[in-house]
Amino acid sequence: MTFRHRHLLGIEQLHPEEIRTLLDLADQYVDLNRREMKHSEALAGLTQINMFFEASTRTQASFELAGKRLGADVMNMAMQASSLKKGETLIDTALTLNAMHPDLLVVRHPHSGAVSLLSEKVNCAVLNAGDGRHEHPTQALLDALTIRRRKGRLHRLSIAICGDVAHSRVARSNIILLGKMENRVRLVGPPTLIPSGAADWGVEVFDDMAEGLKDVDVVMMLRLQKERMDGAFIPSEREYFHRFGLDAEKLAHAKDDAIVMHPGPMNRGVEIDGTIADDINRSVIQEQVEMGVAVRMAAMDLLARNLKAARAEQGVMV
Ligand code: NCD
Repeated sequence: MTFRHRHLLGIEQLHPEEIRTLLDLADQYVDLNRREMKHSEALAGLTQINMFFEASTRTQASFELAGKRLGADVMNMAMQASSLKKGETLIDTALTLNAMHPDLLVVRHPHSGAVSLLSEKVNCAVLNAGDGRHEHPTQALLDALTIRRRKGRLHRLSIAICGDVAHSRVARSNIILLGKMENRVRLVGPPTLIPSGAADWGVEVFDDMAEGLKDVDVVMMLRLQKERMDGAFIPSEREYFHRFGLDAEKLAHAKDDAIVMHPGPMNRGVEIDGTIADDINRSVIQEQVEMGVAVRMAAMDLLARNLKAARAEQGVMV
């Protein structure tokens, strides 16, 4: 098997072959999820705990569904941001949960690096469901699966990632993944929302949508992450939509068969026009949600196999 990790903390640690292995398995789970009987026993007997220290709709729901479809016992902890005053709080919580013998911990946290820190303190598999502005590996993997199924390949494509790149872990994980798979990545947005070091990431940077979208295969829009902004990054939402919001006129610069993506949640009329988001000929936004469940099933399945193998080696029964 070509997936050799104890945790899934970021795309950074994955080899292209491991990405392919995970996506191939996810394709099988897409088929399973389309059947009436959606059950598998891959995680039977294992306990999965979801700890979300930040709001989430689709990521948490899909991790929960993924675990249940694989036969795990799934528990959702409601973590309030207010209980999170110190780093110790996170570690203490992790140690408490660890004492309950979970097998998989799914963690979302507002601080970059927090999930990795936590993974060092527990003896189960940890999956990063988004840490600050750092990484959101399962989102990049579900985006990759969506692109691969729609475009028939995941290399030599031209992909524009547009909008609030500076505050986006989705953008970061996607830039790393798409670069590893040898695609051409462009970042398009106002200079205030493009990180200053972006030019060193092997991407092209544009501050004009018409130029940035010219002949691309994929247009990936990002949410304007107002909760992470501590100053005035844009003049007004109206002005932002006018210059950077995706509408039919701007999309016309992309290839005729270009697909439109958005990780959700969307701000309609801010970064994307509602009619484009709902256009079933261009938008794959709902398909991204469907791929999200399959990718999370594949990720947890692979980590559970490694966990069982490691325990077997240590002589621990599972
Ligand atoms: C993203 C996130 O939380 O990073 N959402 C998601 O997981 N689908 C993007 C966002 O919040 O804009």
